[in-house]
Amino acid sequence: MKALIVYDSGFGNTKSIAEAIATGLASLDAKVLPVGQLRPDDISSGDLLVVGSPINGWRPTQKTMEALSRLGSRGLAGVVAAGFDTRVKLFIHGDAAKKITKTLKEAGASTISKPMAFYVKGTEGPLLDGETSRATAWGEELLSIAKEYGTQRSA
Ligand SMILES: Cc1cc2nc3c(=O)[nH]c(=O)nc-3n(C[C@H](O)[C@H](O)[C@H](O)COP(=O)(O)O)c2cc1C
Repeated sequence: MKALIVYDSGFGNTKSIAEAIATGLASLDAKVLPVGQLRPDDISSGDLLVVGSPINGWRPTQKTMEALSRLGSRGLAGVVAAGFDTRVKLFIHGDAAKKITKTLKEAGASTISKPMAFYVKGTEGPLLDGETSRATAWGEELLSIAKEYGTQRSA
């Protein structure tokens, strides 16, 4: 099993979260990749795929949606996956993580976490205190669920 964390980021905050998640997935030698560089062949059955985007206008960025659509046509059977976003604390902030997670599932992936949100103070950041540690802890959690999932599949 290998792990791939794919992100889009306008100001670097989602990138920092992606890197912090990779720290939590260290034993899988997780690769962190900007979404524009993702090639559908980078992912194989049995891999863990994590996709993250800032919320832009209530939804994932266009680049993220396009990449998800390419992944959707390829199909993600056998892939374990999770989605996250970064957002500001607003009364109505929309959602990207939920849409990402739903799209990964529709593409055939087994989603192993509820959609996860990480918070920035303002449009350009910075991340709220504690968010990178929370991202690393989430990565560790994903690692243990993904490993358990892999063991069950091969049993
Ligand atoms: C064009 C634009 C639209 C945005 N729309 C939303 C939004 O609908 N809801 C929200 O919570 N944050 C919104 N934001 C704030 C972003 O979520 C925030 O800039 C992002 O999390 C920062 O991550 P990044 O540094 O990876 O780009 C928006 C930001 C931009 C630039």
